Amino acid sequence: MTFPVNRPRRLRASRTMRRLVRETVLTPDDFLYPVFVTWGSKVRRPVEAMPGICNLSVDCLVEEIAPLADLGIPGILLFGLPETKDELASGAYDDEGVVQQAIRAVKAAFPDLLVATDVCLCEYTSHGHCGVVSDGCVLNDPTLELLARTALSHARAGADIVAPSDMMDGRVAAIRRVLDENGYQETPVMAYAVKYASAFYGPFREAAGSAPQFGDRRSYQMDPPNWREALREVRLDIEEGADIVMIKPALAYLDVLQRVRQACDHPLAAYNVSGEYAMVKAAAQKGWIDERRVVLETLTGIKRAGADIIITYHAPDAVRWLKEEY
Ligand code: PBG
Repeated sequence: MTFPVNRPRRLRASRTMRRLVRETVLTPDDFLYPVFVTWGSKVRRPVEAMPGICNLSVDCLVEEIAPLADLGIPGILLFGLPETKDELASGAYDDEGVVQQAIRAVKAAFPDLLVATDVCLCEYTSHGHCGVVSDGCVLNDPTLELLARTALSHARAGADIVAPSDMMDGRVAAIRRVLDENGYQETPVMAYAVKYASAFYGPFREAAGSAPQFGDRRSYQMDPPNWREALREVRLDIEEGADIVMIKPALAYLDVLQRVRQACDHPLAAYNVSGEYAMVKAAAQKGWIDERRVVLETLTGIKRAGADIIITYHAPDAVRWLKEEY
């Protein structure tokens, strides 16, 4: 029996009725906010292609996140811009490095705020690749030890979650082993399990100063047309001990996110990346879209597709807007 007996519009008639039957509800608990920490003090350098986002020195970072902790965002994802770069990314696993100092300062100021750290070498290498380079190739196995040292150094500084984003094979196992051997059995690994070689990372490379100086990342990040390979990457990372698995980018890969959701029961994170943010900000600045509605609709779509955790530069705005009616 269909129309006139069935009238789906009955359940859309008022805001209260819509709230009653709403299937997906965003909450502040859904978000991690990515931040970029740099050397110096009183540094607040805007990232041109990411309006509202700055490179912050440790003191400014602490100031910046104070209101976020009050708003109830569960945590941040920390990226570092080191003072100097070299072939072996030594700034990444220096216990006095910029990320390590930031972890200590943030945990001292906001003990309940979760600090997740991006574990990768590309911000720290002179060539801008995510691993050790020899004869123009990014070597897998020699990179694992450096990644494990980096994760251990973050855990020692007090990181609550370490998040490898390099896409080397075997890095989750290597990190898990070194953390366990050193007494950090309780530190979770959030693996960037499904990370595509995407043009949507463009603005991030300005924010983190991590553009590769030759070639591209296609020999280690995934080929965008593949979804079965995503299921395989997730399976491998979980076998190696990942506690949370991530899909990245989010918007062009919502089908992948949904399929991974159906295939695994681990918590899933989706990364709403820099290029996705930049497009919304640019259109909003031109007055071509309603930023608030577009952002909340987008983030709801990511959650509806299956994300438990949304990593997004919109997090502070989104949390403020969620306090109002939408
Ligand atoms: C480091 C890393 C990147 C991003 C997160 N971690 C850049 C890249 O792989 O080139 C991208 C984040 C974003 O675009 O917001 N490997």
